[in-house]
Amino acid sequence: MFIDRLEVGNKGVLLHLRLKSEPVSDPHEFAELARSAGIDEVAQMTVERQAAHRRWFIGEGRLSDLKECVKDSGADVLLVDRELRSGQQRNLETELGVRVMTRTEVILKIFADRAKTHEGQLQVELAQLKHAQTRLVRGWTHLDRQKGGVGMRGAGEKQVELDRRMLAEMIKKTEERLDQVAGRRERSRKRRTRSETVTISLVGYTNAGKSTLFNCLTHSSVDSEDKLFATLDPTMRKLDIPGVGEVVLADTVGFVSNLPHTLIDAFKSTLEEVANADLLLHVVDASDKDPGLRIRQVNEVLAEIGASAVTSLIVLNKCDLLADPHSLLVDGLSKPASRVSARTGEGVEQLINQIGEQLGVAHAAQLVVLPANAGDVRAWLYSQGAVLEELLTEDGRISLKIRVDTRTLARLENTPNVVLPGRDGMLRSDEPVHRISPLAGSMHE
Ligand code: GTP
Repeated sequence: MFIDRLEVGNKGVLLHLRLKSEPVSDPHEFAELARSAGIDEVAQMTVERQAAHRRWFIGEGRLSDLKECVKDSGADVLLVDRELRSGQQRNLETELGVRVMTRTEVILKIFADRAKTHEGQLQVELAQLKHAQTRLVRGWTHLDRQKGGVGMRGAGEKQVELDRRMLAEMIKKTEERLDQVAGRRERSRKRRTRSETVTISLVGYTNAGKSTLFNCLTHSSVDSEDKLFATLDPTMRKLDIPGVGEVVLADTVGFVSNLPHTLIDAFKSTLEEVANADLLLHVVDASDKDPGLRIRQVNEVLAEIGASAVTSLIVLNKCDLLADPHSLLVDGLSKPASRVSARTGEGVEQLINQIGEQLGVAHAAQLVVLPANAGDVRAWLYSQGAVLEELLTEDGRISLKIRVDTRTLARLENTPNVVLPGRDGMLRSDEPVHRISPLAGSMHE
């Protein structure tokens, strides 16, 4: 990178800076972010001020305390829990001799470390470049560092200008590459909409266990031969929900509270996926100190990206870490949540049923009678995992006991020659003579 900065170490002093006029931020959350960024907290300091000091944000007295703290703790990075002007950040770095990272930079690091897909990597790169644009100041570019000294002011200014142009060029190129990927994503989404494929998105605070649950839920249904799904990116897989059939499950980026805007902009296409989903699985780390707070923080981000109207299902994950998961009370939870362990697989089957119910799969079974030549409808119902039992009527028609969602039921109602007896919800048998087990596929009296 052409911005000449010190290396990021992994032993950090956490500096909580607050202005008396501002609401108090959550120190616990910043410590968690540092941990997620792979930085060990070796010391912390809190400074409260009426107004920011022009040069270092903090005053001279606290600056010398901070220097001592950095030196004594052997820290190699200072993490500041807010944004600083680039000049203040550079001055602190010069005084302390260690890299200074602001809150946005800590979050960018977390996202950069975790970006798995090509699109994700491009998105983080774009956010980093846009952030770097705001950090371009004289005295912080490589030319200044190399030459430095009195009389170099003009050269430094010129370098900033050159760097600015170079950055703008890189941003343009990254945006073009991202547009291509986003175009593919958009086409894939349109295809899914056309084929009425249900999409479920996993959302949650970073580290809640989304990717682990994604793998756990889709483990048995990865099928690289399947055309529709083979074209999707690796963060999407198919999932079979009995009564609904194949749905797309999408893994998304982890949220943090007050997601920096550079990131929201860069992750636009991924976040649009969330806003367009049919259902959100909101994964929560049940072993977190305050799961209720995490839920609220994620809900705030959902509101910001226009996804708060999408139905969501709270999934309390990591229940294997709790002595008694069922006694866990979560602040502000209005409806009962699924309790699972993506690691052990416990509760995952119930979760799949709950997803089905949420997507409109009725509790009650329904009887459908098909003409003998409607083998295609019968095969389709089997492919949806909807058939509980197959019965043959005396007149040779096929009678199926099914559990389906409202969409499937509506489609059946509009299919010629298909009869739905007991549409009032009551199961009425059509005088079956043979029963066929849908699982074994064998006929018995
Ligand atoms: P981001 O990529 O930040 O969004 O994280 P994520 O939500 O995708 O979390 P991920 O699946 O990467 O899991 C985070 C950590 O939690 C990993 O170390 C997992 O092994 C662990 N983890 C996930 N699920 C469980 C669980 O059910 N029980 C336990 N004990 N650990 C879990």
